[in-house]
Amino acid sequence: MTIACCPGSFDPPTNGHLDVIERAARLFDEVVVVVVENPAKASLFSIGERLEMLREATAHLEAVKVSSFDGLLVDFCKQVGAEVIVKGLRAVTDFDFEMQMAQMNSRMGVETAFMATNAAYSYLSSSLMKEVVRYGGTVEGLVPPEVATRLDEKLKGRKP
Ligand code: PNS
Repeated sequence: MTIACCPGSFDPPTNGHLDVIERAARLFDEVVVVVVENPAKASLFSIGERLEMLREATAHLEAVKVSSFDGLLVDFCKQVGAEVIVKGLRAVTDFDFEMQMAQMNSRMGVETAFMATNAAYSYLSSSLMKEVVRYGGTVEGLVPPEVATRLDEKLKGRKP
């Protein structure tokens, strides 16, 4: 039984994230999605809110579990028995940092598999979703409906 871990800040989850999670669920016996606070980024949603959004959006996927962790990703992987980290790669701009993390995580004992992002979602990012809603635009079709509602509640028309 191979367990994969899909980590991220998911602030909020986008359809790009969900596409990678769904495809990982077809390849591995179990996928543990883990919400990790990224101290380098100011977050909009609490960890609890992000867990709720991910649980709602993955409720139809039996092999997917959703969790959160504060610490080194490799320690979480060892805790849940995940042998591989799965990360989506959107474009060459993702590559440098993702490669750096993958090599460090490999050194610490857990390998990473990169999944090419679905071309339909390759321009999506959580930051862009927040910016579009903040300035009154719509993200319908780019995030799950429940995420769009929460983004509207938090941000619509609230310019920084
Ligand atoms: O969605 P993001 O912000 O690109 O995800 C980054 C994340 C959460 C995967 C990364 O920051 C992470 O793994 N954090 C946990 C702490 C850790 O293990 N850091 C060392 C990485 S080599």
